[in-house]
Amino acid sequence: MSKRFYITTAIDYVNGEPHVGHAYEKVIADVIARAHRSLGAEVLFLTGLDEHGQKVQQTAQARGMNPQVYCDELSLVWKNLAKTLDLTIDDFVRTTEPRHKEVVQAILSKLNNEGHFYKSVYKGYYSTKEETFLTEKDRLPDGTFPAMYGEVTELQEENYYFKLKDQQAWLIDYIEKNPRFIQPDYRRNEVLGFLKNNTLEDLCITRPANRLNWGIPVPFDANFVTYVWFDALVNYISVPAAHGDPTVLAALGRKGNGPELWPADVHDIGKDILKFHAVYWPIMLKAMGLPQPKQLLVHGWWQKDGQKLSKTTGNVVDPFAVINEWGLDAFRFYVVRELAIGPDGNWTDAGFSSRYHAELANGLGNLLNRTLNMLNRYRGGVVPERSDELAAEATKTINETKVLLEQNQLQDALASIWVLVNRANKYVEDTAPFKLAKDPAQAKRLDEVLYNLAESCRILAVLLWPFIPSSATKIYAQLGLEGAPDKIASLAWGGLTAGHKVKEPVPLFPRKDAPAPGTAKTK
Ligand code: ME8
Ligand code: MG
Repeated sequence: MSKRFYITTAIDYVNGEPHVGHAYEKVIADVIARAHRSLGAEVLFLTGLDEHGQKVQQTAQARGMNPQVYCDELSLVWKNLAKTLDLTIDDFVRTTEPRHKEVVQAILSKLNNEGHFYKSVYKGYYSTKEETFLTEKDRLPDGTFPAMYGEVTELQEENYYFKLKDQQAWLIDYIEKNPRFIQPDYRRNEVLGFLKNNTLEDLCITRPANRLNWGIPVPFDANFVTYVWFDALVNYISVPAAHGDPTVLAALGRKGNGPELWPADVHDIGKDILKFHAVYWPIMLKAMGLPQPKQLLVHGWWQKDGQKLSKTTGNVVDPFAVINEWGLDAFRFYVVRELAIGPDGNWTDAGFSSRYHAELANGLGNLLNRTLNMLNRYRGGVVPERSDELAAEATKTINETKVLLEQNQLQDALASIWVLVNRANKYVEDTAPFKLAKDPAQAKRLDEVLYNLAESCRILAVLLWPFIPSSATKIYAQLGLEGAPDKIASLAWGGLTAGHKVKEPVPLFPRKDAPAPGTAKTK
């Protein structure tokens, strides 16, 4: 069996409801997963929930709920997000599942037996919000801790530690020798800067059960539960183990006959959790004798109207509400087109509406609509003889898009696809088929124009399927084609054949700024 393309997202804490940042991360993973399938790979796409830790325990307590009951309830909201976003996930992991807990415990036992841990007393500061210990170095110049850590408490307790001191040199070396390991490059440089200018503190991997019991019991000491980050990161291999991945199971001393998944091809994560993935996770994997993931793909954070998203100030974007009003594909399109994977993004409702109208309604939607209208009006919906006037430009777009998709350059891929959308719309203006139709002597020319337009629409459907799958499928259906336009691998100019019958157009992206006569404008 050949290795699958294995892509993961961060697993979200269940201490709240999903917002646009969570939805964004899942959408980009889905676009990448769909793109790789369309390019011909077998894919396993994993997302899920991070359910342990003090943060979740406190939220459950505040609601007077048993933490498992609380997680079970909220997990439905998050699973519904995955469904609403039409994610093509192959599995959804919850860290409270036995299949996951069992692997975490097996790894803890193995690493403990091999002498990676020691027990020691810690006295210092703790941020519950970020589930992490802080040191004097984390203080701001004014003596306080950064706001992102929330309330910081002082505590003294005994815990198990994972020895990291000897790990710094090989990790620096590994990151330097593997430039694609952390992307984009400026995030890679950030990690290298951190590793070269600091001495790694050993990682505390337990919490005393009498302070925090909402965690995976440490198999060799019942007084402790596993630190939530040690637990959470393991999801990336506990799921492959559950699927029978031979590499992961071999590291646990077991045999597996399932699909080859590990190492992951892409861990799609936000910038705030880079250190956990670029420092602790590689060290954990090395200790377990497992290869490193191929890539940490680090996205930026969304703001709205230039301000941090915050429930307290009401500065939020509710993905469910946006999708309800504008449709899923409009949401998927905006977040991927607006923001490259890397920098921070700024959501504005005006920008959203403007992209929707300019690029989706007037651009893609209008192209399909006028193409099918003219084909139906002038040729009874029957595709004329093949003509290659736009073939070279379409082929260029196909080739560029394939390369960009292989490199996870999603925003650039959309830009490249829109070169063809705009070219085809301009072709309508330039050739003026509505004038050609009035002159019987131009019948051959009109045939050519109509073929080039219809075939461009077919190619666009296939290129766009990873991004806006339901619209792409509708384009296909309106072109009278069966199935899903999901095979970029075999995409080439000339797929539509003479005599093929198309359907009547149905608008893909109705305009919302000019209400239909007699309807009240609500927004
Ligand atoms: O960190 N814009 O969970 P989480 C874009 N459980 N992305 C955002 C964002 C924003 N405004 N806010 C959050 C955790 N995210 C851990 C992960 S992985 C083994 C464990 C992203 O619910 C954030 O960067 O706090 C992260 O990648 C994801 O949402 C989950 O964040
Ligand atoms: Mg967070």
